[in-house]
Amino acid sequence: MATIEVGILGATGAVGQQFIALMANHPWFKVTWLGASERSAGKAYRDASAWRLPTPLPDDVASLQVNAAAPGSAPQLMFSGLDSSVAGEIEAAFAQAGHVVVSNSRNHRMEPDVPLLIPEVNADHLALLKAQCATRGWKGAIVTNPNCVVVVVAMALAPLRQFGLRSAMITSLQAISGAGYPGVASWDILGNVIPFIGGGEEEKIETETNKILGALRANTVANHPVTVSAAVTRVPVHNGHTASMSVALEQRPDAGALIDAWRSFRGKPQDMDLPSAPPSPIVYLNEPNRPQPALDVNRDGGMTVSIGRLRRCPILDYKFVALGHNTIRGAAGAAILNAELMHREGLLGGGA
Ligand SMILES: NC(=O)c1ccc[n+]([C@@H]2O[C@H](COP(=O)([O-])OP(=O)(O)OC[C@H]3O[C@@H](n4cnc5c(N)ncnc54)[C@H](OP(=O)(O)O)[C@@H]3O)[C@@H](O)[C@H]2O)c1
Repeated sequence: MATIEVGILGATGAVGQQFIALMANHPWFKVTWLGASERSAGKAYRDASAWRLPTPLPDDVASLQVNAAAPGSAPQLMFSGLDSSVAGEIEAAFAQAGHVVVSNSRNHRMEPDVPLLIPEVNADHLALLKAQCATRGWKGAIVTNPNCVVVVVAMALAPLRQFGLRSAMITSLQAISGAGYPGVASWDILGNVIPFIGGGEEEKIETETNKILGALRANTVANHPVTVSAAVTRVPVHNGHTASMSVALEQRPDAGALIDAWRSFRGKPQDMDLPSAPPSPIVYLNEPNRPQPALDVNRDGGMTVSIGRLRRCPILDYKFVALGHNTIRGAAGAAILNAELMHREGLLGGGA
């Protein structure tokens, strides 16, 4: 099939770099355009970015010139890893100019006509794009993926909806790469735990989860009624957000039923055999000391959520631990999977 040219907004950042690495050998998408701030514009990518990934920067991308983040010469399909202080306006300008923007940033996620997508969980929410096109009159469109820890939480909870999911208490232990580069100062994070992450991290877990798990009704999403309470921490881990979770369920399933629900969980990416789809989006590990970021974060290219330590909770019903790769399943890999699904569903032409 013909290659689809793609651009990356925020290409020099932690998420932007992950986009480049993940698309280095992509069967459909080829990176041909890079955008970042005025600080980087006009420079060759190799000079504008501090490449932090263990895989080499691809030569063809290294020599691309970085553009200012404005529509004009960019391809139709744009991925965005823009800083949230500027993502709102820039992404809207691209969508208005006819681009399909597949974004990681928080700015548009909770708008009622914007899909907040995890393709295994709520692929049908792409139907919101009709309303988006009608209300905004854009020639293009915006589709978002969740916050990096919300992906882990929502994927762990999605298979539990069948048991009458009522509430969830979550404590996260989030990697430093979640703060971008250079992120948290080494002085602050080494040998430490910081019980706060700015930008409304806890509120995102307590609201985005309900939209993602919600049901599509008449071109809007009816939020799932689960009550979520979150406490977030930053820990000295390179990659991988861990969530220690307790859940209350209306039914009384035994532990085996929960494990079966996780292990058998599949969605459209697996049915359609999308290039970035992991064979099993959720893996349950029996070992009593798993999942661990150092051992489990890169499972299936970083696209699988690992769960373990399921046991009874004396306050709610069950407790367990979930882990996912924050810049892959929680960011660039998530957005690429969204775009793969949209391509297969014929939605990359925008709203026009
Ligand atoms: N890191 C994660 O795990 C993660 C996960 C999910 C979602 N996200 C979200 O993804 C986005 C990017 O995160 P990150 O960790 O990659 O951040 P980052 O490393 O700080 O990168 C930010 C990017 O935005 C660009 N930028 C900053 N100001 C700009 C401006 N005025 N105009 C145009 N571009 C500008 C930067 O370009 P310059 O280099 O030129 O300054 C850089 O490319 C954020 O919205 C974040 O919340 C991050």
